[in-house]
Amino acid sequence: MAHAYQTHRNLPPLAGLATMADAIQPGLSVEACVARLKRYHYAFVRLHEILTARITAEPIYELKTAFALHSYLCAEHVQALRNRVAEMREPPLGLEDVPDPALQVFFDEILAAPTTTELLVGLYEKAVPALDAALARHRDDTNPIADAPSLRICRFARLELADMLDFGRKAIASLVDDTAREAMRPWLELLDECLARASRAGRGQESHGSPLPPGEGLRVRENAPRRMHSAAPYVYDPVPKRDERFQDLFNQGVNAEAFIYDAAIEARPKTLMMLYKRIREIDVPEMMAGIIHQTRGKPWEYYRDMSRQLWDEARHAMLGEIGFVALGIDWTQARITHNWSFRLNTECTPLERHAVLYFIEQGLMTKTGKRYEWELGQASGIPLMATIQDYDWADEVLHAQLGREWYIPQLGGWKEALDYGDKCWSKILSNWAAVRDQGLTRHENWWPGIYRQACRTWGIEPDPRILSYATTYEDQRADLKSVTGSA
Ligand SMILES: [Fe+2]
Ligand SMILES: [Fe+2]
Repeated sequence: MAHAYQTHRNLPPLAGLATMADAIQPGLSVEACVARLKRYHYAFVRLHEILTARITAEPIYELKTAFALHSYLCAEHVQALRNRVAEMREPPLGLEDVPDPALQVFFDEILAAPTTTELLVGLYEKAVPALDAALARHRDDTNPIADAPSLRICRFARLELADMLDFGRKAIASLVDDTAREAMRPWLELLDECLARASRAGRGQESHGSPLPPGEGLRVRENAPRRMHSAAPYVYDPVPKRDERFQDLFNQGVNAEAFIYDAAIEARPKTLMMLYKRIREIDVPEMMAGIIHQTRGKPWEYYRDMSRQLWDEARHAMLGEIGFVALGIDWTQARITHNWSFRLNTECTPLERHAVLYFIEQGLMTKTGKRYEWELGQASGIPLMATIQDYDWADEVLHAQLGREWYIPQLGGWKEALDYGDKCWSKILSNWAAVRDQGLTRHENWWPGIYRQACRTWGIEPDPRILSYATTYEDQRADLKSVTGSA
């Protein structure tokens, strides 16, 4: 028997993957294994959908950036699971089917969670732990050698689910108090009920050997828990929201690009404007989330690539935040406007937004784009600035490639795609006077406050010529942003 079996000179058996005692268990059939993989796949697809859809209107910056990361991680695990299912005698793949109506209700409910606190608890106390537990059970139930490729995917997924859970638990500890938790108790019971039904149906499926036993599909559907928040279909909220650290959201009082391209100004103060441009990029995830959520029917690779880019743009914002912190500067004294994502999301279709994004990003590939910003970072004498701009540049090269892969073919060719981008961008003419006249902003000049803080850190007196910088976006041509703009 297994315990008496000896490997050569006591070497670890079975390539180190498992003990012989575990490996002599028959485990799951291919059919049962695939049925489970499809459930994990469905869970990651829905998590990706929820985390993406809720970025735009989530006010809290730290949650926006975490959702950006977590949605991207889910997109990668979806891809890995799709590839694995395709290896398992499973054409047609049936990956777009809903594996269980109770699971559908479960994720619909979290997608439609009416508040941030409910969203967090639904995601990080219910959905992610349930998925993680299912992946752990796969390890226990399947044959570790026969099904080693699935286990490898489950293992990698669990590493990142653990990171998501860690963040989620800490976020809940900071943001969800007992009163909020008590108020959502009936809803949490509904989520538990959905999971219990899905788990019963899953076990029935494996013991009956068919997707759903005869009559079971109907019974589960009939008994699907009564919806609460998702009784009416979820509607994506395209209006970007920010927390209280972000003030004066329509401000266009300081023209960062004109400053950076002023040959008479030295590199070091320009790094402050570059950091401003970086942190302002939080508007790109707000805008891309809508493209991803509202564009249906693409190959999964599209969603994976777009989610990668969305996450990169969130990282660019965080690099701006990091740079300000490193210089001892309170970035909330700058005006991190949401004018760009607000206008694109409320005035343009998803394809028009993608066109604008591509139009801007291909413009960054010229000598005066990302290379110039990296050169400024190097010339500034601040090593962190060189790092930030070096990786920002590399990311943008990738984004221009992704645009060539996914955006250009939608328009037919490079020239058509560029013309369309130009046209869409000119749809968004400057609203500098309009937002001022509507009383949305007075375009306050925040620059001296930021520059003075940096001068304190650098131990220098402010240069009066630089301190008095007051060029706004008032006279900016609508497409000037294409030189170096967001994204
Ligand atoms: Fe980009
Ligand atoms: Fe970017």
